[in-house]
Amino acid sequence: IEQVILMLVIAYLLGAIPSGVWIGKGFFHIDIRRHGSGNIGTTNTYRVLGPIAGTIVMAMDISKGAIATLLPFFFHNFTINPLVFGLAAILGHTFSVFDRFKGGKAVATSAGMLLAYKPSFFFLAAGIWLLLVLLTSMVSLASMVAFTCTTLATFFINDLFLSILAIVLTIFIFYRHRSNIGRIMNGTESMVPFGLGNLI
Ligand code: G3P
Repeated sequence: IEQVILMLVIAYLLGAIPSGVWIGKGFFHIDIRRHGSGNIGTTNTYRVLGPIAGTIVMAMDISKGAIATLLPFFFHNFTINPLVFGLAAILGHTFSVFDRFKGGKAVATSAGMLLAYKPSFFFLAAGIWLLLVLLTSMVSLASMVAFTCTTLATFFINDLFLSILAIVLTIFIFYRHRSNIGRIMNGTESMVPFGLGNLI
């Protein structure tokens, strides 16, 4: 049990690494929390610092969720469901000890958890997300719809814990996107400079 607590702490701390903030401050001397949407995630890093920084932050945030979910394999300890460690990383990412218990919108870290736990669901989510980004040019909308669809897809396999966690995470992701939802509603959500959304 001590080992499980240690693993949970590691998962939380891994998730708490504010990749976007550290990459921005470390390499660009820019605090992305003061620019764009103010979020610390991939989208705002891309918006403020460009595609290379955005891609690095996406890779780091996905890795945080994935590595945390794989901790039971590294420790050879399968006492509790690996998804619990993914959840710890997601909580770390959104309530980060390195960011005054604030943080991101839980999209990439949740995707990383799926990648480690059930890669097919990660690729489903990523596929829907990419398609919707290209169709709407709104990453926030793509993130919310991709998670909703993926949650529905989990109902077709027999994994109650995954489905319950996916429902909870989808509600949480919508909550974290409440300012985006407001902007989508009144037509002021910022768009990525590609995709069909720019044509409308
Ligand atoms: O992953 C976060 C994304 O869905 C929205 O980010 O910066 O546009 O609020 P942002």
